[in-house]
Amino acid sequence: MTMTLETATAATDCVAKPWAAPEIGASPAAVFDIPNASALRQHALQAHFIDWPAPDGEVYKRVALVEVPGLQQAIEAAVGPVDMLGMGYRLNYGGELPNHAIHSDMGWGTHAAVVYLSEGTGGTAFWRHRATGANRIDPGDTALFELVKDDWNDAGRWERIGLVEMKLGRGLIYESALFHSRWPFAAFGDNPESGRLIAVAFFTPRQQ
Ligand SMILES: [Fe+2]
Repeated sequence: MTMTLETATAATDCVAKPWAAPEIGASPAAVFDIPNASALRQHALQAHFIDWPAPDGEVYKRVALVEVPGLQQAIEAAVGPVDMLGMGYRLNYGGELPNHAIHSDMGWGTHAAVVYLSEGTGGTAFWRHRATGANRIDPGDTALFELVKDDWNDAGRWERIGLVEMKLGRGLIYESALFHSRWPFAAFGDNPESGRLIAVAFFTPRQQ
């Protein structure tokens, strides 16, 4: 079975999808649902959030670098054993834009996971760069980087090719090299209870 991003929006309600493991190297996304979403949301709301100066030179707003209970187990149920490189929570409010709207996550393993811990519109979008046709950038591809580096925040230069919609407890796994963004770019809410709250993890599956 080939998993596409558009079919990934049709997630159902079990813990993990057995199809995810063999497809992870070739498909752009896998989706799972965690069973303890409300408890995990409460754990996140009690975390200590900081504006985090990351190794890439960016400052990421309202991040909590903590272990997310059960997240590695949920990821491993979906894709098999992983080497976990980092995890935590992120909280963003209305009007706050990402550091780079459309981007890839390089340098933190081959895959990322996002678990939505709030309800709201949109979710995570995947993009194709119109001028080059690229839907991903792999480490070391400086030629492509030069062609896309000025376009991160200009949605008109990109075609949206997938959207995994936000739902409390829904988890999404994708290859870090894929061009992606939160969608819409601006978050929502104005306090921890009403804001856009996610758990995030960066990892490399061991079977690769
Ligand atoms: Fe990202």
